Amino acid sequence: MSASPLHKASPHESALRHVTGTARYTDDLPAPAGMLHAVIVASPHAHARIILRDGTAARGMPGVRAVLFADDVPGHNRVGPIVHDEPVLAEDEVLHVGMPVALVLAETRAQAKAAARAVVVGYDPLPALLDLDAALAAGSFLNDPHVIARGDLDATFGAADLVLEGETRIPGQDHFYLETHVARAIPEEGGCWKIVSSTQHPTEVQRMVAHALGIGAHEVTCEVPRLGGGFGGKESQAANVAALAAVGAARTGRPVSLWLDRGEDMGSTGKRHPFLARWRAAFTREGRIRALDVKIWNDGGFALDLSPAVLDRALYHLDNTYHLEACRFEGRCCRTHLPSNTAFRGFGGPQGVIVVEDVIERAAVALGLDPVAVRRVNYYGARPGSGEERAPYGQVVPAPRIAAMHDALLTSSDYATRRTSIDAETAAARAALTAGTATPAQRWLRRGLALQPVKFGISFTNAPLNQAGAFVLVYADGTVQLNHGGTEMGQGLHTKMRAIAADVFGIGVERIRVMNTSTEKVPNTSATAASSGTDLNGQAVLEACRTVRDRMAQVAADELGCGRDAVTFAGGSVSAPTGTTMTFAALAQRAWARQVSLSATGFYRTPGIAYDRASGQGTPFFYFAYGVSLAEVEVNGLTGEAVVRRVDILHDVGDSLNPALDLGQIEGAFVQGMGWLTNEEVLFRPDGKVLTRGPSTYKIPAAGDVPRDFRVTLLPHAAQDGTIGGSKAVGEPPLLHGIAVAHAIKDAVAGFAAAPGAVVHVGLPSTPERILLAIEDLRAGAPADTVTG
Ligand code: MTE
Ligand code: HPA
Ligand code: MOS
Repeated sequence: MSASPLHKASPHESALRHVTGTARYTDDLPAPAGMLHAVIVASPHAHARIILRDGTAARGMPGVRAVLFADDVPGHNRVGPIVHDEPVLAEDEVLHVGMPVALVLAETRAQAKAAARAVVVGYDPLPALLDLDAALAAGSFLNDPHVIARGDLDATFGAADLVLEGETRIPGQDHFYLETHVARAIPEEGGCWKIVSSTQHPTEVQRMVAHALGIGAHEVTCEVPRLGGGFGGKESQAANVAALAAVGAARTGRPVSLWLDRGEDMGSTGKRHPFLARWRAAFTREGRIRALDVKIWNDGGFALDLSPAVLDRALYHLDNTYHLEACRFEGRCCRTHLPSNTAFRGFGGPQGVIVVEDVIERAAVALGLDPVAVRRVNYYGARPGSGEERAPYGQVVPAPRIAAMHDALLTSSDYATRRTSIDAETAAARAALTAGTATPAQRWLRRGLALQPVKFGISFTNAPLNQAGAFVLVYADGTVQLNHGGTEMGQGLHTKMRAIAADVFGIGVERIRVMNTSTEKVPNTSATAASSGTDLNGQAVLEACRTVRDRMAQVAADELGCGRDAVTFAGGSVSAPTGTTMTFAALAQRAWARQVSLSATGFYRTPGIAYDRASGQGTPFFYFAYGVSLAEVEVNGLTGEAVVRRVDILHDVGDSLNPALDLGQIEGAFVQGMGWLTNEEVLFRPDGKVLTRGPSTYKIPAAGDVPRDFRVTLLPHAAQDGTIGGSKAVGEPPLLHGIAVAHAIKDAVAGFAAAPGAVVHVGLPSTPERILLAIEDLRAGAPADTVTG
């Protein structure tokens, strides 16, 4: 029989079903009898007063069963994860292009679509704010500023060798999950509702559906089979889709399916937050960053959604891996007339890190130093006698792993040799150009290298969210059903949860079935987000399984004639120290016969998390995950294209619960981060309509874009105290390694200048167009391009 699956590489539990197309997603489930199809009538205006609503013509069309407006919402028309500021259906105003104004329900989707075009809505357009600059100029905000500060800024700036000032603009990103938003609402007996949803947050769906219908949470269940990707886009916003489906079902008494096609999804839902940062920084001649003063703003879109939490995480990551003597970080969320921007892998953390990395890169050029060396001298715990160090918000950064990881990666990636060889190649190309002997490659190709360190705080920064539950059922034949509060979106959470249970019971994973996530099994769950799905649910699963195992151990002790604590569970057997054994199945049967309960719940709360927003001080994180990466790119000066030639990553996942899954998460996150900063570009028309609505116009990385040579290593001997199996969260932190590609591109572009040390601003995302403009500017000797999206 199998040994424990914990800490071993194994495929995703649904891998075979994923690749054979037999894994069932929400819309693959058999349609309940009489299911209607819902289609949204969406606002074509970014901001307008609604002066007319008429569903008469649409109601008369074939197959149409209802046309609903805001007044038809039975309970409350306002939903939202922190405050209820998002109408389920627009009231007297529309606040972004794509805002739902009406819902059409028909027997077929084609009929619903046809009728949606016949719904008459009159608008009186109003002025709209469509980006951060417009919002700032108009003073349009969603919340009050949040400030984190320490040290004496004025004194530190006064004593600096180098003071730099600048602005950093960070673009948005579409989630581009393979499965777009979808929900089904199914009437049950007694005015109750079952919702099947592609959501990272079943409890939020349950809560918002109950709110919109004006009923209790107990009258709604939400079940999640699996998601075809969420990436944060289904943390809060799946609830709006589910609420619409539920309203349709409540008004017609029929089951309702609502899914957004790719264009609707990209055109109406929130994205990663664009950020604007204005900063000044003080450095010593040796490259020590002494002070950093930053103001950041994110574009929250029309409603609050999770924007304040995203902004907070950006503030908490403005230090990245660097110790700052003095700093002042201030952040605020802007309100615009765009879809409400939302969680996206990294949740503001990457945006914060990009700011300080931009500062470091610019300082390195100004000081004539290698940015890799500038990073090294600034790490937490890296300076002689640095002792215990604290992040700007006061949390201790214990035993920082970053400097040692940096050194290890430089060695394993052969950094020094490769840096020298690239510099020599660039110098030779310059000389050949001057001499008029340049080969085409010397004229048009340049290589660049960049290193990116990562420190990422793990926990929900909203402390109460750091809790989870589980419910395990052992059947009398020795097989197990496992329920926990997390959702499976491809990251492998169920695979890890099953391995934890298998380890506790000492049985093979094939005897354990992880059930669809459901609010009727585990209540009051948090979103599967903040990379904490395994940390939180794993501990709850562990506790639930141990409770049942301890009861079974008592039965085994009686049967085998030993003490309860001497019983061991392994390899499908239960044994006494004497060697007498019985199978796990036989024990389950005996426990049943002896009337012992074979089910239990488990619960976990992360200890020690607290933060005081007023003082900007506290312990928002349970621990930090670390990583470091080195990217090498080649830029083509004729086409502006960048090829990622090689990437080396050393990443800290603690003692990995499943190295194969963790490797996949690191590779996938890196590629997603790289895509964000290179070829993915969300574009809006001047009237606020999203132009990039599908794969033809929005370029996520394809197979040919991944690094040609991709070497990912998990940090060895990295067990973390107090976490499940000594592991660390992996979902989001490695996305930040993608930043290395943007800096490597800049390094390569600098090679097109006539002499070393040129100041280069490519702008983000660093698309071929931006790269070409930056190269042209360098050639012309003009100031570098600062165009941004
Ligand atoms: N991996 C896949 N395949 N699909 C996803 O949607 N979401 C990411 C990450 N990895 C995602 C993914 C995000 S945003 C988070 S927060 C974590 O997974 C959530 O899952 P975890 O906490 O179980 O790691
Ligand atoms: N990360 C992800 N999602 C969240 C967080 C967080 O810190 N806080 C609230 N939702
Ligand atoms: Mo992830 S952005 O926390 O869902």
